[in-house]
Amino acid sequence: MSISVTLSGCQMSKNQTSITSSSYQQNNESTKEKIKIGFSMDTLKEDRWKRDKELFKQAVEDLGAEVEIVEANGDDAMQILQAETLIEDGVDLLVVVPHNAEAMATIVKKAHSSGIKVLSYDRLIKNADVDLYISFDNEMVGKLQAETITKLVPKGKYVYIGGADTDNNAHQVKRGVFTVLEPYIEKGEITIVYDQWTKNWDPADAYINVEEALDANGQEIDAVIAGNDATAQSVIKALTIRGLAGQIPVAGQDADLPAIQNIEKGIQAMTVYKPIPSLALKVAEIAIKMVKGEHIVVDQKVNNGKIEVPTILLEPIAVTKENILDTVIKDKFYSKREVYGTSE
Ligand code: BGC
Repeated sequence: MSISVTLSGCQMSKNQTSITSSSYQQNNESTKEKIKIGFSMDTLKEDRWKRDKELFKQAVEDLGAEVEIVEANGDDAMQILQAETLIEDGVDLLVVVPHNAEAMATIVKKAHSSGIKVLSYDRLIKNADVDLYISFDNEMVGKLQAETITKLVPKGKYVYIGGADTDNNAHQVKRGVFTVLEPYIEKGEITIVYDQWTKNWDPADAYINVEEALDANGQEIDAVIAGNDATAQSVIKALTIRGLAGQIPVAGQDADLPAIQNIEKGIQAMTVYKPIPSLALKVAEIAIKMVKGEHIVVDQKVNNGKIEVPTILLEPIAVTKENILDTVIKDKFYSKREVYGTSE
């Protein structure tokens, strides 16, 4: 299914006049002014976001536009302030990775009142008139995690270490996980013995939670599904200290290098690889088209609590020891040397 969206009704110039695609181009050609995109990021903590930042900058510049990037270090007030500054600086469009799905709604309102459209990058802004959302299929991420783990452990005690409650992705991933687990739970084959969010996706918080899960169950657990690779690493740390690493399958997501190395070593069962270059490029291309007032074709719409947001979802890929070569190495996400310590 594809849906055509003309993102009209929101003014696109810095001086708040609504202009069509052709008048923008004429204006742009005569003044030779470059399109300027504002990119408001939550954090650079996980490695993936460093990639997102570099690749997005490169993609925007390759397309002849420029980008101003700010990063809020997980602080909502800071992210709002930084995004307000981008609006005041006169960016033509705002791309946002919200730290808090709800808190950034205020920025969408402010941007729109200055004639600036807002594109939600990777994470959805909730309860706001977001113009477009581009991400990976996060529900699929959870499904891939649970499908891989249930093949290894079709019966037993499962621990769920979720992502940040404030991040819509964490909820989508969890929905995917439980869609797969539900039939097993109903048949009494799988029991969820622990289920917690991880505050701010903080690995230290995940560590406390997994310790609690192990203690509460006398270490008798059979599988762990974690929100991402950073939290999965905390799980593996706790299991290693207790001499259990490699005996209990652990799932993560992001294809972080330590996770891929742990998969190779046999102490993490799987991760979910999301090719960040495709996301960064897609967002850059579409952001520029939106500024030019061009027609955008999307595959679907996702409800964000206020509206049905036009959405483009890219496909995530499950990675286990069997397909490291055919996925992250084939795509040059990592070199053989990085993963195996050798280029052979
Ligand atoms: C992203 C993950 C990331 C996590 C923590 C989520 O929204 O989808 O890729 O690991 O945030 O930053």
